[in-house]
Amino acid sequence: MRHKPINNKLFVQNRQQLAKLMAPKALAALNANDVLPTNADGTLPMQPNADLFYLSGIEQEESILVMFPDAEEEKNREILFLREPNEHLKIWEGYKHTKEDARKISGIKNIQWLSEFPVMFRSLMCEAESAYLNSNEYKRAKVEVETRDARFIHQCRKDFPLHTYRRLAPLLHQLRVVKTDLELELLKEAVNITAKGFHRTLRFVKPGVTEYEVEAELSREFIRRRGKFAYTPIVATGKNNCVLHYLQNDQVCRKGQLLLMDVASSYANYNADLTRTIPVSGKFSRRQKRVYNAVLCVLRASIKSATIGKLHRDWTKEAQAHMNEELLKLDLLKTSQVKKQTPDNPACRKYFMHGLGHPLGLDVHDVGDTNAPFTPGTVLTVEPGIYLPDEGFGIRLEDDIVVTEGGPVNLMAKIPIEADEIESIMNR
Ligand code: GLY
Ligand code: MN
Ligand code: MN
Repeated sequence: MRHKPINNKLFVQNRQQLAKLMAPKALAALNANDVLPTNADGTLPMQPNADLFYLSGIEQEESILVMFPDAEEEKNREILFLREPNEHLKIWEGYKHTKEDARKISGIKNIQWLSEFPVMFRSLMCEAESAYLNSNEYKRAKVEVETRDARFIHQCRKDFPLHTYRRLAPLLHQLRVVKTDLELELLKEAVNITAKGFHRTLRFVKPGVTEYEVEAELSREFIRRRGKFAYTPIVATGKNNCVLHYLQNDQVCRKGQLLLMDVASSYANYNADLTRTIPVSGKFSRRQKRVYNAVLCVLRASIKSATIGKLHRDWTKEAQAHMNEELLKLDLLKTSQVKKQTPDNPACRKYFMHGLGHPLGLDVHDVGDTNAPFTPGTVLTVEPGIYLPDEGFGIRLEDDIVVTEGGPVNLMAKIPIEADEIESIMNR
């Protein structure tokens, strides 16, 4: 792994928390993600399963975790099944976890090879009354390929038709939305790496550079610091500022344009999520700066208003009301348009058409009940924007925050955001 070893207390605590939420005499089983195919014999880089990682720290393919807190025998309460290393694997793929390494990473004592799984799982199922199985219950997920967990569910239902099956996802969503101090440390490292990358772009960007060259600079900075892109980077100059999911990154940055970078690093599977919009030539026009400051104003107010107990939808409504005010001042909206708005279609939507933010963690759009009030430890992005394709530019600014007893804490407070500061660094 590129990241440094993680204190396994993180995973031990997470399993303890999950065990408290499970029904009596129930077991839980979760699978690693598949290594996904591309063309011919190609594969995509392995994307660790976030839930398996959250409960075990294990990122290796084909692994299975079984938790059975009420098992008669103590050794059966937590078992991790792994691919058995062999000579062939060693030659072609290199290192695979030994039992001792897996114990250290996860804090789980009972590590078994996968060949033991069928017999041991049958025996555990015969003792259990119900089984929690895992599936992707993210509301906006489009799942078109069958995951390892989905295949496992079919197999379990076939082999053990009379058991009660339960959904693991709601329990994991409830837990994962609240970040522990150990998780925040990893998230902060992702933010630190991201900050280094952004600083590099401030020194690099000038008229004539291409979007992909900027992407390359970021990549260099992230990878040499043990990070990697948390999501496909958006490096968008000029009109492309207004394409919300712009991914081509193939244009030349020109004088007078703004460059919108929605780019961040992950570290140890924890993701940062940053957006900054900077002037290609190192100086904002007056109009660009006015719009920039309007977005910044909504960002700052929205960070402040992310307090304990607030509902996501109320937080968003407040930001939309504030955005309406800013758009009136910019002469982009008329009072009559604001009067005519409906709760489902706020006037600002014409220029600010996406969400205000989302939970952040092991997934960039992290799991969590969006109807539940913010609690201490909730990590959110805050990302207002104003998009003006007719004027050839758009601005989005995005910071990551954590909701605490003492109020919201901006994890990105040190990453330059004031227009003047950005100009001054770029012109140094
Ligand atoms: N970078 C993805 C997002 O901001 O939601
Ligand atoms: Mn983003
Ligand atoms: Mn975001």
